[in-house]
Amino acid sequence: MVAHSPGCCGGSGGSAGCRRGDNTVALPQEKMSHLKKINVADLRLGMYLHGFDEAWIKNPFWKSKFLLRDYADLQAAWTSGIETCWIDLSKGRDVSKKAQEEAFELPETEAEPEATSFDEELERAAILCKSARAATISMFNEVRLGNAINVDSCLPLVADIAASVLRNPGALISLARLKTSDDYTYMHSVAVCALMVSLGRTLGFDEEACREAGIAGLLHDIGKALTPAEILNKPSQLSDEEFTIIKRHTVLGHAFLTGDRSIPAAAGEVCLHHHERIDGGGYPEGVSGGKLSLLARMGAVCDVYDAITSNRPYKDGWDPAESLARMASWKGHFDQTVLSAFVKSLGIYPTGALVKLSSGRLAVVVEQTKASLTKPIVRVFFREEPPGPIDVELVDLSDPAVKDSIVGRESRERWNLPSLESLWAGQLAARDHLDLDVGKEKSK
Ligand SMILES: [Fe+2]
Repeated sequence: MVAHSPGCCGGSGGSAGCRRGDNTVALPQEKMSHLKKINVADLRLGMYLHGFDEAWIKNPFWKSKFLLRDYADLQAAWTSGIETCWIDLSKGRDVSKKAQEEAFELPETEAEPEATSFDEELERAAILCKSARAATISMFNEVRLGNAINVDSCLPLVADIAASVLRNPGALISLARLKTSDDYTYMHSVAVCALMVSLGRTLGFDEEACREAGIAGLLHDIGKALTPAEILNKPSQLSDEEFTIIKRHTVLGHAFLTGDRSIPAAAGEVCLHHHERIDGGGYPEGVSGGKLSLLARMGAVCDVYDAITSNRPYKDGWDPAESLARMASWKGHFDQTVLSAFVKSLGIYPTGALVKLSSGRLAVVVEQTKASLTKPIVRVFFREEPPGPIDVELVDLSDPAVKDSIVGRESRERWNLPSLESLWAGQLAARDHLDLDVGKEKSK
């Protein structure tokens, strides 16, 4: 019999046995017999909560599986608006006899996550980017004032970001890369949150781990709220002294989060160690290898990728595919297993990458396909010989009828091309809140 994993986020092979794609899990018979679906209203202290039946993003708790000991937790469950949940009878008490008679049978399958097309999700992601930016600015301002982070307002934001990643991983991640120097710190937090959730899914994280990864991503640079703005936003190169001050954002953020018992300890760990390197050459502690938590090693990859692909006052962002290739070449910097999973989560040629096709045409990657990491949907717009623009055309390289293929990534500088973002983001790339110079020729 196949039963569903309550509130599974769709990770592949995670601790709860989730399989990415069908979002169902085969529970061993002995384990399945311990689980019972009951009305949330029948939850009592002493029961072991195994999960809710709703999407995990509605879960009012950081942890989805725990023994109910606290009356406040019980109240939170009762008032969550979720109707049914699962309890584990091997780890906690059963419901009363009367309630047992009303218990449900385990269903055969769980509903698939609501997948959306790239274009559809892009529209939703643009709205989410705007609200996430405002929420993150507010959060940073509160920290600057010395106020604790409002977990209640933080959690829905992480849930919204994670939900977008679940529906279509490429849209929000690609859009969040398009940031201005003014909102860099805030949108970088949003982007790293989305990247952490996506990477967590690829690594097979269960619902709880995905959520922790997301919150850790959102908060990883919170120490920058405690860093002098004139240094943080300095458009020119930092002095050694200024760089020393910047590097303190790791320990400042960690200390701030450690004082807040409502924040998962993992978020503080990522805050402290996201600038560490796998060979011990990072900061602030020079911790290496297995002494770094998995989330910290994930944070290091997500943080660097978003940083180098984003436009900064002192440099243009690198091409996404070029960035992945460069990161892979930096020996001793990243956990190679985590980096490989990261590439798998984004595609070898992520959305926005400039590629050359076997036909001699240049194209921008629009969307990944399930068929192959090297056969995305692209938009051709330029030919190599004789060099010049051509009619824009959307081509699905995974379509067997299409004979064209990617021969490699291509340098934007070689062709002195203008911003290519409108080729995959359309008019969204030019919206005011993203503040992009779409179509503006580079001044070289
Ligand atoms: Fe940082």
